[in-house]
Amino acid sequence: MCGIVGYTGSKRAVDYLLDGLATLEYRGYDSAGVAVLSPDDHLHIVKCQGRVAALRERCNAANLTGTTGIGHTRWATHGAPSDRNAHPHTDCSGRIAAVHNGIIENFEDLRAQLRLAGHEFKSDTDTEVIPHLFEDAYKGPAQGDMVRALRNTVARLEGSWSIAVTCADRPGELVVTRHGSPLVVASTPEGAYAASDVMPLAAVTSHVLQLDDDDIALLKADGSVTVYDAGGDLVREPKGLDIDWDASAATLGGYSDFMGKEISEQPEAIERLLKDRLGEHGIEMDELNLTNSQLAAIDRIYVVACGTSYHVGLIARKLIEHWAKVSVSVEYASEFNYSDVLVTQNTLCIIITQSGETADTLSAARRLKGMGCRVFAITNVLGSSAAREADGALYIQAGPEIAVASTKAYTAQMVAAALVALRLALANGQMTQAEVEKVFHQLETVPDAIREVLNRSWQDKQVVPIFRDAPSALYLGRGTSSTTAYEGALKMKEIAYVHAEAYPAGEMKHGPIALIQPGYPVVAVVPSDHVHDKTVSNVMESKARGAKVIAVATDGDEQVANLADHVLWVPQMDEYLVPIVAVVHLQVLARYVAKAKGLDVDKPRNLAKSVTVE
Ligand code: F6R
Repeated sequence: MCGIVGYTGSKRAVDYLLDGLATLEYRGYDSAGVAVLSPDDHLHIVKCQGRVAALRERCNAANLTGTTGIGHTRWATHGAPSDRNAHPHTDCSGRIAAVHNGIIENFEDLRAQLRLAGHEFKSDTDTEVIPHLFEDAYKGPAQGDMVRALRNTVARLEGSWSIAVTCADRPGELVVTRHGSPLVVASTPEGAYAASDVMPLAAVTSHVLQLDDDDIALLKADGSVTVYDAGGDLVREPKGLDIDWDASAATLGGYSDFMGKEISEQPEAIERLLKDRLGEHGIEMDELNLTNSQLAAIDRIYVVACGTSYHVGLIARKLIEHWAKVSVSVEYASEFNYSDVLVTQNTLCIIITQSGETADTLSAARRLKGMGCRVFAITNVLGSSAAREADGALYIQAGPEIAVASTKAYTAQMVAAALVALRLALANGQMTQAEVEKVFHQLETVPDAIREVLNRSWQDKQVVPIFRDAPSALYLGRGTSSTTAYEGALKMKEIAYVHAEAYPAGEMKHGPIALIQPGYPVVAVVPSDHVHDKTVSNVMESKARGAKVIAVATDGDEQVANLADHVLWVPQMDEYLVPIVAVVHLQVLARYVAKAKGLDVDKPRNLAKSVTVE
């Protein structure tokens, strides 16, 4: 969580810092701040609780003209969201400022040691030890050398971090480093830039440099970036990455919110992902970096992910087990990291992560890699840690997902999982090429089916009043549709703040049915599939107790039409692909309910999009 930016060059630093922070706000929005070196070499700090828009107003009033600075947008871990705990934090002299993303696990010990040495602290954060350690190092053994001072500083830290430091004694210089948290830098004729991810940099360059863990980069106002590795040696050719994201992809482009924009972008995102994937020999997926015989030998798959991406994992299991007949375990990364794991030399790990930076998912991948497992990533963000650390990575190419609630990445990741399952099924002989091609052509109909659901969003609008004042709702489904219920309920909780409990429909009678009383909303995902009649029975049980039933059903289903109070209709689809389409109604519904309640659909309370702490 938290986003950091830095700039030194010939332009006003605050312009990039604020624009960059606005782009990174999905990483946290509890507070925001900048430190800019003024032309007379003083550090000017502006920070406040709340959003980047509030910071922008304060910065406008402060008229910051300096050309070197750092910035931060915070998701609070240590210390409540407040002006005092907002970054940047400074040393005792007020001439050194630091911003940090991550967690310093030994901050209490360090604070105690620094206090004994006479340092004074002004915040409750773990981060504040960084400028004080830097101060000691800079004035002591590093003798005014920023790179050495940062190296000495991080040598004392435990935990995870990406850090940027500016010092009033060194106008036109910034130092940055990373250890377990993301950071990219860029060298341009107008100056040198740093950011937590490529999005802020897409507005200023098409080429970024990636830092490895423990690299330290010195950024200078002439635009140069010098990278030193953990041992202090010069990295002659830092890894570069071309950004093919158009900066305008991260703007609203006429939509009132990013969630609405991203929901409507789903058909095109899936079309991009499917383009050129069907070749002469089946599914083209060189990204797997596995030969046919290696694929055929896979006897067990772990899918590890968090949140919405975990729900993709549940669908991936159904598809892989159905098509490729390989046994799949789907694990919450945060649980997996502390559980026993059984792997063979033919176990494959698939991590699914939109951001590619979720700390728990990355830890799980590292653990499995350490056990000799091959790790394959399904991710959206180019150059993300997941993509860099995995043995192979499939980019879903959905474009920047900015709304905190994941929508287009969810459906595109399901399509990616389907492609992996088909690739595997052909390699291990469970499907013929003709069968794979048939499913692929069905996948090609998904974008139009989603367009059709989007055209029917008036159906979702009609049921908004049911949820606007409801304290709670039950979401039910069987088989692949239970996952659609989980994901629909998650969307409703996270953006509309309606408690929504999702349950496999058949399990409802073992407890949750007690919740139902007259008028209680039950969302039943009941497409025409092989468990349709069973789910219909559960809908009847809900109706018998007075539930208000909102069904997601397949066009032409008279039985459901007669039973439910409202129906959100989906076009006819193969039952293994219908989750990619049916969920769109539930995304749209959650967004409408949140908007009807006057909520900020893009930035729900307490959440951050990229969860980079465990
Ligand atoms: C919910 C949501 C989160 C993420 C989760 C994992 O709408 O977006 O549950 O899915 O934090 O994030 P990634 O996929 O980036 O690893």
